[in-house]
Amino acid sequence: MADTIQSILKKFRQNNQSFLIPILQSVQEKEGFISKAATERISEHLRLSKSHIYGVASFYSQFKFNPPGRHSIKMCLGTACHVQGGDFLLHALEAEIGIIPGETSEDGKFDLDRVACLGCCALAPVLMIDNTIHSRMSVIKLKETLETYD
Ligand code: FES
Repeated sequence: MADTIQSILKKFRQNNQSFLIPILQSVQEKEGFISKAATERISEHLRLSKSHIYGVASFYSQFKFNPPGRHSIKMCLGTACHVQGGDFLLHALEAEIGIIPGETSEDGKFDLDRVACLGCCALAPVLMIDNTIHSRMSVIKLKETLETYD
């Protein structure tokens, strides 16, 4: 992992803070998340505090701070899905897999995020697992759906 970070950092001049976002994007792309170790290395390279880096990175949903799970769940909480009980489903989902948005389950099976709209509002409430849309979700359907993933 350290070698990957080093090869990324080598492409960006030291102490130039305008490179923060491009560096974070490269790390996210190569490693799948922004680890503590990566944050420390970026901090040294750009002479920025770790809290500043964390503050910037956490502003953008594209950056993750946990390793991705084997399956990525995106729960839609856009208007259509919200009206159809998206929040309720999210709570059921959190209880079922034991994590909240932004986290990865301990067994590494699922990571969870909330999104604003998945573009299929007529099918609300909707969630996406990996690249599959699961439409007109209910708590019962949710349990059955999760069981099909290993
Ligand atoms: S609001 Fe959920 S798919 Fe559009």
